[in-house]
Amino acid sequence: MNMIEVLRNPEWKSIAVKVLALQVLLSLLMFFYMHHQVESINTTIVNQNTALIGHLLMKEPGLENEVIHFITQGAKADELAEGKRILAQYGYQGDIPIENQPVLSGRSLPLKTAAQVLLLLIPLMLLLLWEYRKLFDKIRTISYAAEQVVENQFDNLLPENEEGEFGSLGRSFNAMAGRLTNSLEQLRQEKAFLRNLLSDISHQLKTPLASLIVFNENLLSDPGMEKEMRMTFLERSRQQLDRMEWLIVSLLKLARVEAGAIGFCKERIRLRELMESAVYSLRTVAEQKRQTITIRGGENAFLQADEEWLKEAFMNLIKNALEHTPQEGEVRIKLEENALFNTIVIRDTGEGIHPDDLPHIFKRFYRGKNHNKPHSLGIGLALTKSIIEEQNGIITVESVPREGATFRISFFKR
Ligand SMILES: Nc1ncnc2c1ncn2[C@@H]1O[C@H](COP(=O)(O)OP(=O)(O)O)[C@@H](O)[C@H]1O
Ligand SMILES: [Mg+2]
Repeated sequence: MNMIEVLRNPEWKSIAVKVLALQVLLSLLMFFYMHHQVESINTTIVNQNTALIGHLLMKEPGLENEVIHFITQGAKADELAEGKRILAQYGYQGDIPIENQPVLSGRSLPLKTAAQVLLLLIPLMLLLLWEYRKLFDKIRTISYAAEQVVENQFDNLLPENEEGEFGSLGRSFNAMAGRLTNSLEQLRQEKAFLRNLLSDISHQLKTPLASLIVFNENLLSDPGMEKEMRMTFLERSRQQLDRMEWLIVSLLKLARVEAGAIGFCKERIRLRELMESAVYSLRTVAEQKRQTITIRGGENAFLQADEEWLKEAFMNLIKNALEHTPQEGEVRIKLEENALFNTIVIRDTGEGIHPDDLPHIFKRFYRGKNHNKPHSLGIGLALTKSIIEEQNGIITVESVPREGATFRISFFKR
C-alpha cells in the first residue's frame, strides 16, 4: 500500500487535522509565553542599566554626556574590551552560569520551558487516545460482525461505503459472508433435494411393491388355484415389475442428472441429424395414431452438447407431444439459428396445458390435469429440463388450452 493511499484513510485525515490544529494552538501559546519571558528579561536589563547609570551619575553628575550613549547607541568595541578585562577579575564573564547571574537568577527559564512543553504534550496524548478509541471501536464492530457470522447471523454486516481501508475491509468481509451464506443455502438445498428425492422414490416404489406382495401371497396361499387365475396374478405381477423397473431406471437417471453426477460430453453435433434420429426412434409411436412429425430448418446448425442425452431430451418432448395430440394430428419441429443461439421449437396441436399446470409441469413427479397414460409419472419433463440446463440450455413452454403446446429450447452459441 503506498503512502497516498494511507493518507486517504478517514482515520488519518481526522488525526492529521486535529493534530495540526492543536499544534497551531500550542505554537501560539508558546509564542506568547516566550514573548512574555523576553519582555520581563528586557525590563530587568533596562532596570539594571538604569540603576547603574543612576548610581554613577549620583556620584559624578558631570559624566552624564559620557555614559548616556550606552543607552542611546550601545557600547563601543574598545569600551567593551576594557570592561571585560576589569570584570573578568571578579569572575563576571559571558560564560557565567545562569544561576550566578543576579539578573536572571530565580527565573529557571530552561526548566520552565521544558515543563511547559511536557504540559503541552498532554492534550496531544488525549487527542491520540480519543482517535485510537475510535479505531478500537471499529475493530470491535468487525469482531462483533465476525462473531455474528460464526453464529450464522448474516444480516448485521459491516458498512461498505466508508472510505479507506475500513471501507474495503467491510466490502471484503461482506463478500466473504455472502459467499458463506450462498454455500450454506446450497448445502441446505442439496439436503432438501435428497430428502425430497428419497421420499418421492419410496412413495413411488411402495405402491407397486404392495401389489406384488399381495399377488405373491395369493399365489402362495392357494396352491390349487385355477391356472387361469394364476396367470392373471402372474400377468399383473409382471406389469408391476415392469413399472418398477422403468421407475427405478428413470429415477436413477433423473437423480444422477439432477445431482450433477453425469459428465456430459461436448461434441459437435449436427442439430438436424440428431432431431431426425430422435423422430425416427419414435416413428412406430406416431404410426399407431397415424400422426405426422415434420422437421423444418436447421440444416447447417451445429451444437456443442452430449448427443445421447440430448436425444433423450428431445424424444421426451416429442413423445409428450404425440401423447397429447389426437389421432392424425401433427407435431411440428422447427430448428432456428441466429448469430446468438440455436433454438428448437416443438409444437403440437393437442389439448394444450391448463394454465394452473403451466408453472409446475417441469417439477419432478408433477402430472397435469390432462395426463392420459395409466402410469403417468411426471418424470419426463423434469429429466428433460435437467439435461438441457446442465448443458447451459434454456427450456420454456407456452400453451393455449385446446390449441396445443409449444416447447422452446435455446442453446447459446459460444
Ligand atoms: N405436449 C403436451 N401437451 C399437453 N400437456 C403436456 C405436454 N407435455 C407435457 N404435458 C403435461 O405435463 C405433465 C408432465 O409431463 P411429463 O413430465 O412428461 O410426465 P408424464 O408424461 O409422465 O405425465 C404431463 O402429465 C402433462 O399434463
Ligand atoms: Mg412424458
